[in-house]
Amino acid sequence: MKPSRCRTGSSLSKGISPKELYVKKIRNGTVIDHILAGHALDVLKILGIDGGEGHIVSVAMNVISKKQNKKDIVKVENRELEPGEVDKIALIAPSATISIIRDYEVAEKTRVKLPDSIRGIVRCSNPACVSNAEPVEPKFSVERQDPLRLRCYYCVRIMEKTDVLKQF
Ligand SMILES: Nc1ncnc2c1ncn2[C@@H]1O[C@H](COP(=O)(O)OP(=O)(O)OP(=O)(O)O)[C@@H](O)[C@H]1O
Ligand SMILES: [Mg+2]
Ligand SMILES: [Zn+2]
Repeated sequence: MKPSRCRTGSSLSKGISPKELYVKKIRNGTVIDHILAGHALDVLKILGIDGGEGHIVSVAMNVISKKQNKKDIVKVENRELEPGEVDKIALIAPSATISIIRDYEVAEKTRVKLPDSIRGIVRCSNPACVSNAEPVEPKFSVERQDPLRLRCYYCVRIMEKTDVLKQF
């Protein structure tokens, strides 16, 4: 049998037949790829996407990547992520790549990166922490990326992924 060819020019079709595409192409929107397998729903939660705002959202979980590892993918149509949202995704999916799609092509692509310290994205879960009482920006050092472990700069409370997700 002859291998089928994709007519479209983008690298989405590079070397793979349409049969192997897990999610169809979108015209405009955001693709979050290379999410650690099993974390796609956490990514949606941290972005506040629950289907209620009407965007077409496609989720693929535990698909096999080129490197033969499992990964998750999220595609959101007609919505481009804002810079602050990229930082939130880094907390939940430090290996992810975010591609902005315009007119079917990858217009911008960012590999998310979790910095050594994070500010202002999450609050300390210790109610007695000074950062919850004073008008100061919450600040954490990233002790471990995966599983996530943050240490509050003010009270040394440890925050894990579940503590972070509770805030979204
Ligand atoms: N029009 C489109 N609709 C939906 N997804 C797209 C579209 N174009 C590209 N993508 C997806 O966006 C991501 C980045 O596209 P790119 O062409 O850079 O992929 P790639 O060469 O596989 O790169 P990577 O090494 O990041 O996997 C991939 O997940 C790809 O499947
Ligand atoms: Mg790829
Ligand atoms: Zn604290």
